[in-house]
Amino acid sequence: MDKGKVLSLRHVLMLSVALNVGLFLRLGYVGEGWRAEQSLHGFCLEEKRQNRGAPMEDFSQKVAHVSKGKLVETASSSVARSDVEDGGQRDINLDHGDPTMYERFWKQMGDKTTVVISGSQYISYFSDITNICWFLEPEFAKTVIRLHKLVGNAITEGRHIVVGTGSTQLYQAALYALCPPDASEPMSVVSAAPFYSSYPLMTDFLKSGLFKWAGDAHKFSQDRPYIELVTSPNNPDGSTRKPVVNQKDGILIHDLAYYWPQYTPINSPADHELMLFTVSKSSGHAGARIGWALVKDQEVARKMTEFIEINTIGVSKDSQVRAAKILQAVADSCDRVGTGPEEVQPFFDHSYILMEKRWNQLRAVVEKSRLFSLPNFSTAHCNFSGRNFETQPAFAWLKCEGEIEDCEIFLRSHQIFTRGGEHFGVSRKYVRISMLPRDEMFDLFVERLSEIRS
Ligand SMILES: Cc1ncc(COP(=O)(O)O)c(C=O)c1O
Repeated sequence: MDKGKVLSLRHVLMLSVALNVGLFLRLGYVGEGWRAEQSLHGFCLEEKRQNRGAPMEDFSQKVAHVSKGKLVETASSSVARSDVEDGGQRDINLDHGDPTMYERFWKQMGDKTTVVISGSQYISYFSDITNICWFLEPEFAKTVIRLHKLVGNAITEGRHIVVGTGSTQLYQAALYALCPPDASEPMSVVSAAPFYSSYPLMTDFLKSGLFKWAGDAHKFSQDRPYIELVTSPNNPDGSTRKPVVNQKDGILIHDLAYYWPQYTPINSPADHELMLFTVSKSSGHAGARIGWALVKDQEVARKMTEFIEINTIGVSKDSQVRAAKILQAVADSCDRVGTGPEEVQPFFDHSYILMEKRWNQLRAVVEKSRLFSLPNFSTAHCNFSGRNFETQPAFAWLKCEGEIEDCEIFLRSHQIFTRGGEHFGVSRKYVRISMLPRDEMFDLFVERLSEIRS
């Protein structure tokens, strides 16, 4: 082979390595949907455009679960590409519910939640073999019970705790546990629209023979067993919910990810058969990937444990220990244990005040504009904080009024990236907007929205 050829081969190789590294770095961001990320202005939106004519279900399956940020690595942390200047106007990416709003509080806490784990710790698969959920760290379980008792948002007595890699894994474990293994056809899974956009995707992803997504619970009329997901406060619209199908063969899963006092008044401890919670939306530690289920029925808890055993052979102990430390700090800040009162603001005060401020800012802009509207919530008393307030959800469910038929596309033309109503089983006149970004991004969003005239 001559020198020239070797040289050009080398160039091709180097180019290929560079392209692959580039591609690898772009496969970074996973948000509330857990799929490898594509470029914001590339594949993902392109796919959306191409799918405009496709049936709604098909289209949703393809894109609803995909979050749209790209990662740019900095020396100290990773930031979404939306935080980066983008030729004139900055992109504002509020598509996924990434809870970075909470960073500020946890920075103020300094080393209070630092966890040091030595190489000799947490080597075993097992945590407590006397527990049905044998990979549940006792310290984590203790803290979950303490926090629920303190906040008064769920009954823990007579419940089995099952820990999961996020409540996402627990949702799948619950479906597995609740469906009879020998039924002649898959069990229908429903939720009232607008429903959390990941439910259809998580339900049908592996084309299980045990269960299948059956859509909007309001439209479910078949006289056979079903599972209904009751999400309260609801993602995306923040409504307080009860089951809607109410037939005798129904099984309920209560997804209570947002039943915390920064989002909604806590009026009574939830007391359902199967309740899902997550640190992602309570303390804001989505990256820890820790959720928990409170389960009344022992056999259901056992089967959920079995699912997680087969799926991931348990749940990271390091993460459980970290989550326990964080939830202890939340509880301590509210109990004022080990902190001078002037030193640390109680976590739920801090986060309530921040959410209140954001909702006031957003409502002021929306009221001024004739283009948009937001849902209204009634005032209720919170037994935890003693405050009377309206639900201030983690997402704004914004409607484009008048002639705008596709709110997501409309806002995108102003470089505001949101998730359109079709992903939640309703019209494209609606979009879901995360209320949980960092302060700077939220302020920019409100400012941008206030400037939109048409
Ligand atoms: C209603 C609801 N349930 C579950 C989840 C997933 O939570 P996790 O991060 O614990 O998997 C989310 C995340 O946004 C959610 O909104």
